[in-house]
Amino acid sequence: MKGFPAQLDLGFAAGAAAIALEAGELLRGYFDRGVTAEYKGDVDLVTEADRASEKLIVSRLGEKFPDHGIYGEEGTRFGLERAYRWYVDPLDGTTNFAHGFPFFCISLGLEHRPQGLAQDQDGELTAGVVYDPIHGELFAAEKGRGAWLNRSSEPGRPLHVSRTRYLQESLLSTGFPSHKRHANPNIHFYQQLTLRSHGVRRAGAAALDLAYCAAGRVDGFWEFNLNSWDTAAGALLVQEAGGAMIRFDGSPFRLDSQEILATNGLLTGEILTFFADMFAGRNIDPVPTAAEFAARRLAR
Ligand code: IPD
Ligand code: CA
Ligand code: CA
Repeated sequence: MKGFPAQLDLGFAAGAAAIALEAGELLRGYFDRGVTAEYKGDVDLVTEADRASEKLIVSRLGEKFPDHGIYGEEGTRFGLERAYRWYVDPLDGTTNFAHGFPFFCISLGLEHRPQGLAQDQDGELTAGVVYDPIHGELFAAEKGRGAWLNRSSEPGRPLHVSRTRYLQESLLSTGFPSHKRHANPNIHFYQQLTLRSHGVRRAGAAALDLAYCAAGRVDGFWEFNLNSWDTAAGALLVQEAGGAMIRFDGSPFRLDSQEILATNGLLTGEILTFFADMFAGRNIDPVPTAAEFAARRLAR
């Protein structure tokens, strides 16, 4: 990895990037050797790599930023009353990882919480890093200073969301929850948005999906059931790359938002109208059931 972009050299993102690169090496080792997955829930997987990565990240964050708190997916709850708090997803895309599907990342997002802020209020996202060790891509952002992509082969370059204006010309992405799968309606959104766009990708790592939205590789991303460790870093990447982070009703994104929509800004209105229609059961394009399709095929 070449030098970190000068614009970010002095900030928290540079410290987090060094930690993410180290954790990425660790994950690559586990990925190449192969891991056994355990079940946290329904189909919610966890591996020794998730735990080892969180342990390493927590230890390095403690060395670099001893006065910061940490909130990690694999159980770390440390110093949560402090002015700075890291949201850590030590391995986003565990299902991919466990199956040898090379799309996963590390996500580190930093929130600044000024003194006196109530527990249920959000502070300000100030730094975010998402690192994909397989493709050697490090996405980083600092509040007010922009978002950048660093590759091992080239110097950092600024990230910008896409300029796609119309849903029918867009490429989108989404994800599906691993908890209470039978209670989730996202498959209907997936189907309808597939019919209205160039397509919807389900790649399996929400933080990387957000980074791809920031990089203009997809024009929008939505999911029903995310956590702050999935979204903290990616939300800042999208915002600093010029995009919009909102909830399904159009209100601003919050760290405790489970339903999130990221767009390039230009598609927000069209997608929000679509969401309102879906929740009201309006303007839904019919598609045949498999049985209807089979009956028609027989009749041909
Ligand atoms: C999951 C991934 C997946 C998303 C799930 C997340 P994990 O995170 O980001 O793409 O659809 O909602 O829970 O469990 O691999 O860290
Ligand atoms: Ca995750
Ligand atoms: Ca995870």
